[in-house]
Amino acid sequence: MKGIILAGGKATRLYPVTKGVCKQLLPVYDKPLIYYPLSVLMLAGIKDILIISTPEDREHFQGFFNDGHHLGVNISYAIQPQAQGIAQAFLIGEKFIGKERVALILGDNIFFGDKLGHVLREAISHKHGATVFGYKVSDPCRYGVISFDKNARPKTIIEKPKKSLSDWAVTGLYFYDHHVVDVAKTLKPSARGELEITDINQYYLKKNQLHVLCLSRGFAWLDTGTPDSLLDASIFIRIVEERQGLKIGCIEEVAFRMGFITKKQLKVLARTMNTSYGNYLQRIALNE
Ligand code: DAU
Repeated sequence: MKGIILAGGKATRLYPVTKGVCKQLLPVYDKPLIYYPLSVLMLAGIKDILIISTPEDREHFQGFFNDGHHLGVNISYAIQPQAQGIAQAFLIGEKFIGKERVALILGDNIFFGDKLGHVLREAISHKHGATVFGYKVSDPCRYGVISFDKNARPKTIIEKPKKSLSDWAVTGLYFYDHHVVDVAKTLKPSARGELEITDINQYYLKKNQLHVLCLSRGFAWLDTGTPDSLLDASIFIRIVEERQGLKIGCIEEVAFRMGFITKKQLKVLARTMNTSYGNYLQRIALNE
């Protein structure tokens, strides 16, 4: 299975902060935002990862991750010249996807929960069709919203409805079979001029091939689109990390625990950072 992180867009809601710095590289407490979605793909066992960004930001991501070998993964890069919609990721990534299944995650989405590995494995177990994740929110109209029939089967999925049909938002993590590229090719831009991911999900829903996994109340799915939500995310991560002494979204730790790198390689990575982050990696390497 392939993985795509969509990390484009101008993040105008965070101006002036994002005038000179890409949003997905902003810190969320002790690490750049993109570490969180990257760690989710790695937790799903995905080792072939494409990062799609604006032309200006590509070199910054490359500076961070190179080809990914230090994390035991293969990272490549592609450009989205303009933010013409989330579904455009499948057109940009067509060659990269080939005939494999693909997971797409938005570069600004943070997921946290002790059953994360379990739900990711469940999503991967669906060999055909699409799998999306529902999350109960108090402000569903800001998102793609999914409603269910009385047998809890998905009924409708609508992008930012004026009046909400349910409290279930669709998160920015999606799993598809390889047909998604052909589906993306049939899309027309929406009223806001974007190739909508919700149109792709509607296609799979109509075909009765849309699986929805609802994340339970113990999960955190965090938004980072505004100064307030970015700060809230940092505070949340800090509180949980300090309380437990365990890091969230720590890609080096995930690489080690998933068996992508050895203990020796983890120690080498730890030595490159003379910070509490580096000390943490050192501790993981020594304790395991
Ligand atoms: O976060 C989940 C929501 O993401 C879903 O519930 C919605 O169905 C989905 O459409 C999307 O909602 P938004 O329209 O609010 O997404 P936004 O435009 O904020 O883009 C999300 C991230 O993806 C953001 O970091 C920028 C990046 N992006 C977005 C577009 C449209 C790109 O890199 N390229 C793009 O063309």
